[in-house]
Amino acid sequence: MTLTFKTVGVIGAGTMGAGIAQVAAQAGCTVKLFDARDGAAATAITRTGDTLNALVSKGRQTAEAVAATLARLHAAVDLGDFHDCDLIVEAIVEDLAAKQALFKSLEGICAETTILGTNTSSISITAIANGLARPQNVVGMHFFNPAPLMPLVEVVSGHLTAPEAAARVEAASVEWKKTPVRCKSTPGFIANRVARPYYGEAFRALECGAADVATIDLALREAGGFKLGAFELLDLIGLDVNLMVTKSVWNAYYQDSRYRPSLTQEEMVSGGLFGRKSGRGFYKYPEGVPAAPASPEGPKPSAIQYLTESEAMEPLIDRIKAAGIKVQSRKEEDPFGAGMLRVGNATVCLTDGRTATQTSFEDELPNVVMLDLSRDFATSKRVVLAKGEETTAAALSDAVGLFRAVGFEVSIVGDVPGLIVARTIAMLANEGADAVLQGVADAVGVDTAMKLGLGHPEGPLATADRIGMTLINAILINLQSHTGDDRYRQSLLLQRKVWSDGLFI
Ligand SMILES: NC(=O)c1ccc[n+]([C@@H]2O[C@H](COP(=O)([O-])OP(=O)(O)OC[C@H]3O[C@@H](n4cnc5c(N)ncnc54)[C@H](O)[C@@H]3O)[C@@H](O)[C@H]2O)c1
Repeated sequence: MTLTFKTVGVIGAGTMGAGIAQVAAQAGCTVKLFDARDGAAATAITRTGDTLNALVSKGRQTAEAVAATLARLHAAVDLGDFHDCDLIVEAIVEDLAAKQALFKSLEGICAETTILGTNTSSISITAIANGLARPQNVVGMHFFNPAPLMPLVEVVSGHLTAPEAAARVEAASVEWKKTPVRCKSTPGFIANRVARPYYGEAFRALECGAADVATIDLALREAGGFKLGAFELLDLIGLDVNLMVTKSVWNAYYQDSRYRPSLTQEEMVSGGLFGRKSGRGFYKYPEGVPAAPASPEGPKPSAIQYLTESEAMEPLIDRIKAAGIKVQSRKEEDPFGAGMLRVGNATVCLTDGRTATQTSFEDELPNVVMLDLSRDFATSKRVVLAKGEETTAAALSDAVGLFRAVGFEVSIVGDVPGLIVARTIAMLANEGADAVLQGVADAVGVDTAMKLGLGHPEGPLATADRIGMTLINAILINLQSHTGDDRYRQSLLLQRKVWSDGLFI
């Protein structure tokens, strides 16, 4: 295979640089690695050798492949060694002036055609290119940690980046066995921006008394289908590191309330409660996340009435039928795509972002039990329920009995708008929609970045397509009207999809 870049320079032999150098060398490139700290590049190469040789012992790499990779990895003595590189990727300290100065020096050493890649996660590509003779050669090549394992590379174009330069970096990413996603230089690029609501909404749910930390995480995992709950993920990333990213995106967007940091997080960081690395964050370590509490129980019903239908509720109704419970259907459609059923004394409403108490009052319904959204009612393990102020304990028990009979674990949470999963899914979709609207990336790019960069089980825009735009929109409208918070304003693109019955993907 002819490689797009035969000789690659990597500058900065820390966490990211060492990994990027390994990836390029494994793909067949000759790689020169440099670090300002004496001996750091050689040490990084030795460490890479140890890691790869360990894989040989486990039978996951051949000795020949590892030897060939290591033969292509060289420690550079100084920047002069980079004179023959076709591509140079910097992974030095996250500092604009340092990156600008480095690229300026490289312009005096390299060929006019050399592409200058930057692994920055938060600095504008346009700003890094400022003052260079050839700003068209500067491209963001944003790997995720750990670079050898994470498949995503965001290929980021600044205002002056030449499309051919970005196209070549994209081609190289594929040769390096990564999945590139093209995007425009904007704060947080794709993944670090669109992921903000995952943490933000968990904090808001916590702060408005929806549930405790462990219950919110459980809901996100077992109803939301996310691999890790927001708080356990924060503990893993480090609350301090995450807060820094949140603040950087928030400030870059002129303190838009969409990205507003949480006071809870600030308070914890100020107390050194960083998560796993400090032994204590939302959970205590080494114990970690506690086991889920036992679900409440209720009577098994023989029948339910499906009062208003919705596409989002259909998989749940199928699951109820499969459990041998009779479904008496009224064939009325829910105007907001939510859906409602009655079991015993309970009126179970799929959330449209209103509280149970509000729904009971506005729609004149008795004993409302609000049901949180699930990623997929056909397969999810848990449902999350909330009862209204006037809902009786017996009615709640009837609802619990239905879900237990169908095979769900049940969490009961506070009667808050958008509950836990619905607010998260709606806000992720909204953020993804705005990223598309603003031309940061296309819808497939946004979804790919969220799946490969953050391990989300499905892209937020595909989720919106599947669950229904009307319902997502209703959740946002109701969250905004309840909280008065501008963070829930709907993306213009999402609104357009609602009115045109359109899909993102
Ligand atoms: N760590 C992550 O999870 C992650 C993920 C994606 C992107 N990034 C970005 O990658 C870059 C590097 O991050 P890291 O976590 O690998 O940092 P790191 O601190 O582990 O490594 C940085 C290395 O760069 C060297 N260095 C600093 N200034 C230099 C200079 N002027 N010339 C040569 N070497 C220099 C340092 O000695 C150090 O070894 C940053 O821009 C960061 O934002 C980090």
